[in-house]
Amino acid sequence: MQTKLLIGGRLVQGEGSVESVLDAATGAEIARVPGASAAQVNAAVGAAHAAFPAWARTAPKDRAVLLTRVAEALEAQAAEYAALESRNTGKPQPAALNDELPAIADVFRFFAGACRSPSGLAAGEYLPGHTSIIRRDPVGVVGSIAPWNYPLMMAAWKIAPALAAGNTLVVKPSEQTPLTALRLAELLAAVFPPGVVNVICGRGEPVGRQLTTHPQVRMVSLTGSIATGQKILAGAADSLKRTHLELGGKAPVIVFDDADVEALVSGVRTFGYYNAGQDCTAACRLYVGQRIYERVVADLTAAVRSIKVGSQQEPGVEMGPLISAAQRERVAGMVERAAASKHVEVTTGGRARAGGGFFYEPTVVAGARQDDEIVQREVFGPVVSVTPFSDVAEALSWANDSEYGLASSVWTRDITRAMQVAAQLQYGCTWINTHFALVSEMPHGGLKRSGYGKDLSVYAFEDYTVVRHVMVKL
Ligand code: NAI
Repeated sequence: MQTKLLIGGRLVQGEGSVESVLDAATGAEIARVPGASAAQVNAAVGAAHAAFPAWARTAPKDRAVLLTRVAEALEAQAAEYAALESRNTGKPQPAALNDELPAIADVFRFFAGACRSPSGLAAGEYLPGHTSIIRRDPVGVVGSIAPWNYPLMMAAWKIAPALAAGNTLVVKPSEQTPLTALRLAELLAAVFPPGVVNVICGRGEPVGRQLTTHPQVRMVSLTGSIATGQKILAGAADSLKRTHLELGGKAPVIVFDDADVEALVSGVRTFGYYNAGQDCTAACRLYVGQRIYERVVADLTAAVRSIKVGSQQEPGVEMGPLISAAQRERVAGMVERAAASKHVEVTTGGRARAGGGFFYEPTVVAGARQDDEIVQREVFGPVVSVTPFSDVAEALSWANDSEYGLASSVWTRDITRAMQVAAQLQYGCTWINTHFALVSEMPHGGLKRSGYGKDLSVYAFEDYTVVRHVMVKL
């Protein structure tokens, strides 16, 4: 197993503290990964800094060739990457192989194309006798911090647009899930010039902090919790770094009385529990019209009971464990506190599964009220709350009454109403009669405390560039 860091084009043994990496489905150790020492963090940033001038000047088509090479190698080795990802996170292997790997390869392909066709204002004589042109130039060295829920995909979302735009970077995967990023490091070392991309490991404190406060790092990108986002912002203040933050969500799902209940139930069964609900867009907070509320609760409860929970390669497995004992405790605590309220009924689930690994049963919490913790806070587990509403205004105000603003969905057969509601939702994305679908061409990112960085799409490419004006006196 590849456990070395990538610094300056070389795979090197970490000299920092050693992290025990677990199989989330059994709790057993599968690797010991030495993190970066303080000197190695400096060396990685130094290598990225040294590689920047030459990489920034490469022609977009040459960057595109290399990014496409990464996509092709990921496709060719998809089975190995999927096996490693699911072994560490516990997620079903078919989901990693059939859902994630193709999407990950596509991200590299998309940005290979996007860097060749940037758009902007036309050059022209906006002051007589002077020609103005707009440039989109790279920012410099980017420090990227990835989370543990989709380790390789989040690394790809950070690496591909940053490199496409001509930046160099140092990326740090989560200490809980470094294995696929380290395997990718080996591939990146063979494709890119030394120092253009560096991969280091270690905990948020001290490795993440050192990277994200390093004076030579010009931009910091994070997908993670609000608390970490706040620390990164505070650390970035000193040298006024650009920041790019995606800090989770609490997606409302507004279901009107005329919705197709079968499609809704099947949708929430998938999109609320995919990746064991450890997804910032998870369909986790249902608001349901009063006429169909009882039916939705009954049908959803039955559907969720049928979700097959198991380890990575069990035949037919649909849902795996949570990432860690700590995450399971956090989820269990929130469900227990919800269940203690008289108005709440846990209609299925609500328990950890006995035995090894960090399994928690898929859970439905019916009758939750707007002020309840389970409605307000991100659970990041296989838990969906259901709340009845009486009219559109109430549904909208409850949906928007959240500190998060990442994703949302509206379910109705009335497209006019769907569009009116979508226009008033304060979320980075609103799906109508579906949820969760992401494509490389469209932006993913939030508002409010969900952060403001856009991943995927030309907007991500632009986030990793600076707009410059050059004026010539004729
Ligand atoms: P976290 O925010 O601590 O971890 C995410 C990444 O940030 C990891 O790579 C970690 O090493 C790094 N990190 C932590 N502290 C840092 C610091 N001071 N400086 C630089 N990097 C630092 O997330 P955690 O504690 O593992 O999960 C807690 C909750 O966060 C979850 O239950 C969920 O609600 C939310 N979360 C949201 C994610 C999303 O997709 N937006 C992903 C992961 C967690």
